[in-house]
Amino acid sequence: MGFSGLFCSTVLLALVAPAQAGRNFRLFRQYVLQRQEKQASKEAYSRLQRLERRPGPMAPWDQVMEGSIRQPLDHFNREVHQMFNQRFWVNTQYWQIPSGPVFLYIGGESGLSVFSVLSGHHVDLAEKYGALVVALEHRFYGASLNPDGLQDCNLQFLSSQQALSDLVSFHRLVTQKYSLTANNTWICFGGSYPGSLAAWFRLKFPHLVFAAVASSAPVRAQLDFTGYNKVVAASLSNPVVGGSKECLEAVVEAFTSVQNMVRAGQLTTLAKDFRSCGALEGFNDCLEMLRNLADIFMGAVQYNNESGALWGNVASLCGIMTNNNTGSPYQRLIEANNVFIENLKSTCVENSHAKTLEELRDTSITGIGVGERQWYFQTCTEFGYYQTCEDPTCPFSHLLNLTFSLDICQQVFNISSRNTQDAVSFTNDYYGADHPKASRVLFVNGDIDPWHALSILKNQSRSELALLINGTAHCADMISPKPTDPQPLVQAREKITSQVGEWLNLAKKISRDG
Ligand SMILES: *[C@@H]1O[C@H](CO)[C@@H](O)[C@H](O)[C@H]1NC(C)=O
Ligand SMILES: *[C@@H]1O[C@H](CO)[C@@H](O)[C@H](O)[C@H]1NC(C)=O
Ligand SMILES: *[C@@H]1O[C@H](CO)[C@@H](O)[C@H](O)[C@H]1NC(C)=O
Ligand SMILES: *[C@@H]1O[C@H](CO)[C@@H](O)[C@H](O)[C@H]1NC(C)=O
Ligand SMILES: *[C@@H]1O[C@H](CO)[C@@H](O)[C@H](O)[C@H]1NC(C)=O
Ligand SMILES: *[C@@H]1O[C@H](CO)[C@@H](O)[C@H](O)[C@H]1NC(C)=O
Ligand SMILES: *[C@@H]1O[C@H](CO)[C@@H](O)[C@H](O)[C@H]1NC(C)=O
Repeated sequence: MGFSGLFCSTVLLALVAPAQAGRNFRLFRQYVLQRQEKQASKEAYSRLQRLERRPGPMAPWDQVMEGSIRQPLDHFNREVHQMFNQRFWVNTQYWQIPSGPVFLYIGGESGLSVFSVLSGHHVDLAEKYGALVVALEHRFYGASLNPDGLQDCNLQFLSSQQALSDLVSFHRLVTQKYSLTANNTWICFGGSYPGSLAAWFRLKFPHLVFAAVASSAPVRAQLDFTGYNKVVAASLSNPVVGGSKECLEAVVEAFTSVQNMVRAGQLTTLAKDFRSCGALEGFNDCLEMLRNLADIFMGAVQYNNESGALWGNVASLCGIMTNNNTGSPYQRLIEANNVFIENLKSTCVENSHAKTLEELRDTSITGIGVGERQWYFQTCTEFGYYQTCEDPTCPFSHLLNLTFSLDICQQVFNISSRNTQDAVSFTNDYYGADHPKASRVLFVNGDIDPWHALSILKNQSRSELALLINGTAHCADMISPKPTDPQPLVQAREKITSQVGEWLNLAKKISRDG
């Protein structure tokens, strides 16, 4: 089917980050996603227009399609007969039949859209190497779940192991539908959690996928992810992205003031200064407020420059935090919070902990792709990744500790901290953490991105390779090039391109030599 109509789609791209941080982080993430989606649609349009001028048997619009695959809810127990429909997209416009490769884009913790096969660096690569582009939405996210999917009894079927098995069935479907042979080399791509899935798909199913590019992949699960805010502190003082020592010091001072006011019980003043939607009722609401304030900085670091906006990046935030015309660091933090609220077209910040719990317990399906309930469940049952502020280098409040995050697993899903801890250890044993012993995987990270602390930054062997990009944030390499890209990012994309080319040559050589 053709579908120019789908360009109005408001479904979000999955080019994003695991984020079980606070509400402000989620709002900022949605903002970044929406802007990226808009950018992706622009790129896709101009690409299609360019292709339309090329002679060919089919209009480019007719070579992109959406489909759905029926999957068992439980791949590991076929006595469970329930099924669900999983969405996928295919773009054949670059595919060189019959032996062109297949580039698989793996979905993750939010809905995918048609742009997963129309824009991004993997699509640029498909154009260069004549690949069929396919993308599979992750189970339980976006539209790939049953109407009762978010109920507790069904969440047990949400896991990375089930997701990898979904990829296995999808591989079979695509192979049959397009009559693929061993000559069609599969390479998979993913960023953030899907980056881990890309590496793990190659690790666990090397007979199905020849190689993987794993961008910003936190392959090492960790219960207490103190390293996240360590990188945030380093990035806030990194001049490459407009940070400075003064900036970091001002942030530390501002949060110390807020924390002292919490301890002194000045909750009415805090609620007013930081435009809380409601009164701060008790300690947990104060923690929510501290986390929402920390989110402004965590979000700016993680997505530095990736929304394309002139605010919400390290340079602009540090501009506010070091501006002594605004007054004390506490006052500058008020200003940073105001700028955040205004740019998100909001009027106040929701700091109610009761509301957070209520939202995470909500099993209704909103259709919006972010999937906080699902992702929080995966952190409780597989990954941890709790971005605490327990490390001495963390610039925010040390009140934001592991207990606060783990209590949510207990209160929302009735999962004990002991169980979460065991689950995290199992995940690392199951996949090999940051020593996976895979082959033909390229791990790509940016040194500004806090998630790089859980990824692979150095070559592990001749075929487990790593690229660490100076000055870029989360998944920056996955977006198509922009004229403002810094040189290290440009070079990184060139390396990814040549590595993919090398793999494809190697695959050809292997199939020729038998
Ligand atoms: C793969 O391609 C080679 C030529 O490059 C051809 O001889 C062979 O039959 C193909 N294999 C399959 C399974 O189609
Ligand atoms: C951030 O964006 C600005 C303007 O778009 C650009 O000049 C700058 O090089 C970018 N910095 C990084 C680190 O990407
Ligand atoms: C303004 O801030 C800078 C650091 O950003 C500091 O060196 C300077 O002393 C401050 N000036 C005043 C008047 O406080
Ligand atoms: C976290 O902070 C709370 C309140 O300050 C405290 O009761 C709890 O013991 C702390 N947990 C850890 C693991 O430090
Ligand atoms: C929570 O889990 C415990 C132990 O696994 C179980 O005994 C209890 O019934 C559960 N509570 C609820 C409300 O499901
Ligand atoms: C990692 O391996 C690649 C490919 O063999 C090589 O080009 C690169 O220089 C290596 N990087 C480091 C830091 O050794
Ligand atoms: C990153 O690049 C900057 C220049 O933009 C340079 O000063 C710095 O040393 C580089 N960092 C690393 C770790 O290579």
